[in-house]
Amino acid sequence: MQNIHHPDLRSRHLRITEPSPWVRRFAPLIPPGGGNGGDKGGAVLDLAAGGGRHGRYLLGLGFSVVLVDRNIAPLADLAGEPRAEIIEADMETGAAVFAPGGPLAGRTFAGIVVVNYLHRPLVEDIVAALAPGGVLIYETFASGNERFQRPRNPDHLLKSGELLDLLRDRLQIVAYEHGLDETAEIPGVKQRVCAVNDLDASDRDDGEPGPHPVAPEQEK
Ligand SMILES: C[S@@+](CC[C@H](N)C(=O)[O-])C[C@H]1O[C@@H](n2cnc3c(N)ncnc32)[C@H](O)[C@@H]1O
Repeated sequence: MQNIHHPDLRSRHLRITEPSPWVRRFAPLIPPGGGNGGDKGGAVLDLAAGGGRHGRYLLGLGFSVVLVDRNIAPLADLAGEPRAEIIEADMETGAAVFAPGGPLAGRTFAGIVVVNYLHRPLVEDIVAALAPGGVLIYETFASGNERFQRPRNPDHLLKSGELLDLLRDRLQIVAYEHGLDETAEIPGVKQRVCAVNDLDASDRDDGEPGPHPVAPEQEK
C-alpha cells in the first residue's frame, strides 16, 4: 500500500500553509493532557506532516507536537522550538515507526492528525497510539476522486466507509463525511473522520459514550 506520491501533490501541499478546515474544526476536542509522548505529555502527532501546517497550527494552540515525515527539510525552521519534536522516518519501508525500536514505539498521543496521506497498514498502529480520550482527525482523498484528478490509484484512495469500518467499535465516531469538496485547499473527493478513544469510558447505564460537540468553538 502506498501514499500520495505524485510530485504535483507534493509541491502543491507545501505551498499550502493554512490548516485544513476539518482539522481546525475538531482540534478543540483534543484534550490538553493525557498522552505520554515522551517528556511532552499530551503531545499531538502530525503524521506525514509535510510542511507542518497542522503541527504549526497545533503549536499555536499550545500543544506539544511530534511531526513525522520522510522529508523533514520543510520543517527545519521548527528545530529550535522546544514544543516541537521532528522525526525523520520512512513509514513504509525499513523499521516500522510504531514497532519496538521505532521512533514512536510505546508512545501515545492526545491527538493524531493525518491529512492527505494513506498507508493502510499504519491505521491499526495509529488507533493504538491514541491515549485514552485521544482524538483522531483523519482526512484524505477517497474513491470518486479518480474522475477529477490525481490521486487516481485506488491504493491512494479510501473506499466508501473505509475509515468508519476500520474504526468501528474502537473509537467513538464524532463526525464523518465522504464526498466532493470543490472548495477544499486541494479540491477533490475527500473522506474525513473525527473520532475519540473513549468507548470504554462511559459513565452511562447503557454503556454509550458521552457526546462531544460536533461544532466545537475554534480558537484563532
Ligand atoms: C500530500 S503531503 C501532505 C502533507 C501534510 N499532511 C499536509 O496536509 O499538508 C504527503 C506527505 O507524506 C509524506 N510521505 C509520503 N510517503 C511517506 C513515507 N513513506 N514515510 C513518511 N512520510 C511520507 C510526504 O513526504 C509528504 O510530506
